[in-house]
Amino acid sequence: MTQLSSRRQVPRWRDLEPFLRPRPLERDVVRRRLARCLSVDDVERLARRRVPGAVWDYVAGGSDSEIAMRRNRDAFDRVELRPTAFSQVAEPELATTLLGRPAAAPIALAPTGYTRLGHHTGERAVAAAAERAGLPYTLSTYATTSITDVARAAPGGRNWFQVYLMKDRAVTGAHLDEARAQGFEALVLTIDTTVTGMKRKDKLNGFAIPPQLTARTMAGMARHPRWVADILTTEPLSFATFPAGSEYARWGMSNQLREQQIRPADVTWLRERWDGPVVVKGVQSVGDAVAAVDAGADAIVLSNHGGRQLDRAPVPLELLPQVVEAVSGRTEVWLDSGVRSGGDVVAAVALGATGVMVGRAYLYGLMVGGERGVTHVLDLLAEEMRRAMCMLGTPTIADLTPEHARLRDR
Ligand SMILES: Cc1cc2nc3c(=O)[nH]c(=O)nc-3n(C[C@H](O)[C@H](O)[C@H](O)COP(=O)(O)O)c2cc1C
Repeated sequence: MTQLSSRRQVPRWRDLEPFLRPRPLERDVVRRRLARCLSVDDVERLARRRVPGAVWDYVAGGSDSEIAMRRNRDAFDRVELRPTAFSQVAEPELATTLLGRPAAAPIALAPTGYTRLGHHTGERAVAAAAERAGLPYTLSTYATTSITDVARAAPGGRNWFQVYLMKDRAVTGAHLDEARAQGFEALVLTIDTTVTGMKRKDKLNGFAIPPQLTARTMAGMARHPRWVADILTTEPLSFATFPAGSEYARWGMSNQLREQQIRPADVTWLRERWDGPVVVKGVQSVGDAVAAVDAGADAIVLSNHGGRQLDRAPVPLELLPQVVEAVSGRTEVWLDSGVRSGGDVVAAVALGATGVMVGRAYLYGLMVGGERGVTHVLDLLAEEMRRAMCMLGTPTIADLTPEHARLRDR
């Protein structure tokens, strides 16, 4: 038997030195923070520490028992990506077409209400980051920044406006007028919010309309003095797409003000009043998908609102193939709810989606580092998509087909 032996020697500095070089200290705190985040999950963990517990619950939570929210993630975790290894590509191209116009990737930023709660720069920062990334941004009816201010923050961006139809159609009409005047491209009509989902933690925290903050909620805020100082020293939080000082600006989110019975005729109503594309968001069945398209929708978004509305609602990723089959070629089919990585985006597109919307992922970035945090999240998603497409052997978005992804039973 051969004896394997290696010659011993005294350690020499010149051999060790290349491995012991300390990383240069990054003085910029935000950059240092973001450099430690190699995934959206990392960003999420850090975000949780940056905001008061009640704010965290509002953003990260779901409705009722959070079953739909958990199932959204579970579906993405069950995805198996299937490479064609002999045809791997070096530099895949993420660019695609969304609503007939070029986009840097099949991703749009979803509408989120009360965005400035997570970071005082709020919607402006998100819109600016989306513009820089070459992706559409959707401003919520319940935004904390006005339509005009968002247009100023991202003048060259693809800005979309999400419509919650108000009982008083004149109020919705005013939104449309302002969005048109500010060069917004598309409307996104959300149809899944006849009543606001029950988010138990928000209720216990006193995050309601009107707000009734509990002592515990206030104490939680006091533990985040930087967040409190930022909120108190910047413009007061309000529903800023509505006229300042109006009852809408104060109580905009109230079920009483919002239309509670949305019908296909409402899609047609919007179609007739808007020159650009109309997207219907919150579609959760094949029947509603067909009805939305028949009523004139240019795209539909399969969505259970990130598990924040009807608990146990269908999971968009699971519903996708049936809907694509039913309306294929007549409209773009998008999905959201649970997208946290570039691999998730690749899976959704492979299974037939034109694109995805992301909600919480960018909000977590915003909490960690304002506009730079959002950019970091969008960069992570793009890098992960690129790596996955390299290994899958799909040079372009159009090459992603159902043969590249399947949902495992477990
Ligand atoms: C904090 C928060 C606020 C939201 N507000 C709105 C809203 O005002 N209008 C709307 O259509 N959807 C709203 N949504 C739902 C998102 O547009 C999107 O459907 C959802 O976040 C997608 O799931 P994800 O967060 O897992 O990506 C909100 C979501 C969150 C997390």
